[in-house]
Amino acid sequence: NSSSISYIDPIKLLGSDLLDLTRNIKRLLGSGHPLLESISKYYFTSQGKHIRPLLVLLISQATSLAPKQYQTSSSTDYYEIIDSPISPSFSSLELVNKSPKEIYQPSFSAQGTYILPTQRRLAEITEMIHTASLLHDDVIDISETRRNQPSASANFGNKMTILAGDFLLGRATIALARLRNPEVIELFATIVTNLVEGEFMQLKNINRIDNRNSSSSHKEKNEKSFTFDYYMEKTYMKTASLIANSCRGASILGGCTREISDIAYDYGRNLGLAFQLVDDMLDFTSSSDEFGKPVGADLKLGLATAPVLYAWEEFPELGPLIDRKFKDKGDIEMTRNLVYQSKGLEKTKLLAASHCKKAISSILNLPKSDARSALVQLTDKVLTRKK
Ligand code: FPP
Ligand code: MG
Ligand code: MG
Repeated sequence: NSSSISYIDPIKLLGSDLLDLTRNIKRLLGSGHPLLESISKYYFTSQGKHIRPLLVLLISQATSLAPKQYQTSSSTDYYEIIDSPISPSFSSLELVNKSPKEIYQPSFSAQGTYILPTQRRLAEITEMIHTASLLHDDVIDISETRRNQPSASANFGNKMTILAGDFLLGRATIALARLRNPEVIELFATIVTNLVEGEFMQLKNINRIDNRNSSSSHKEKNEKSFTFDYYMEKTYMKTASLIANSCRGASILGGCTREISDIAYDYGRNLGLAFQLVDDMLDFTSSSDEFGKPVGADLKLGLATAPVLYAWEEFPELGPLIDRKFKDKGDIEMTRNLVYQSKGLEKTKLLAASHCKKAISSILNLPKSDARSALVQLTDKVLTRKK
């Protein structure tokens, strides 16, 4: 399909929409308590990649010309609900300003593709949930930096950082409820539960399969494949579910058929898996200046990610180190060296590339548009990113 190779830069296609994003999110985060307000806004003052909202907006455009199950309302009255002031228990109403009306009007591109106000708001909600998870994550990971700045937990302490994450989640839920779509609310509630499940899976492995009756070579093979499957399942939960279900949500708000929302979900799932695989690779190959957050963090946290699990296939002596979460003296250095000596990093990248390929073949089932080309392009950005 020749259309898949036309180069459309996702950021250029949606640049101005992304500028509105942070401003609109900040409007949802007013509180009578100034410190709560600043902590919940803290990660919106640094430059994130905005990959999730970018995806929601591109999927919205790319599915706008696809077959529809129902007609979406374009009455302005309906959009007033989305943006009416939030009634706070402890904060003055005037802190939660309404957005300029023009932001929440449907916008059309030259090709006739469009983004609905509800979809624009969904992009903001997605970024808010992601940011809430980062606030909690930096507490759990005891991480000192994010986006080349002190982390929220390093700056404000764990207690307030956790609470600010919860506040963000609450405000995101208000905005979500206002979209008046129960199916999308269910998808987003699933995202939050999946984030927690993924984080739990990472924190505490469940017992390996009981294969006492199999031969020792079988046992080893089963153990390795179980561990890798578990890692991929965790990766779906902590990263890909948010991306996949946001893509599905955008297409549902657009009134698309089940077939189209399945395509959107499948694209998001594969892109999300690739994204986290690359993240786990960069933890070994990047520098903290480039990455904007500490590198080598996973081994320190006791986590065996794809590069280590692949290296374990070549170097069985890694098994006990993985089991004891690299906590003995010299474990981290030894693992790191074996990972570099192995094909682990290369194989991780290949696996990420194979998920990008699946994402592309899924998205090419949508009608041709610039947004679709940008979604194809995005898989390449995910694969070659340095931060
Ligand atoms: C970053 O991963 C973190 C996540 C992808 C999800 C974190 C989820 C939670 C803490 C569950 C609770 C969340 C909510 C919203 C209730 P990472 O630590 O591998 O990446 P990093 O290097 O960017 O820190
Ligand atoms: Mg983490
Ligand atoms: Mg972390």
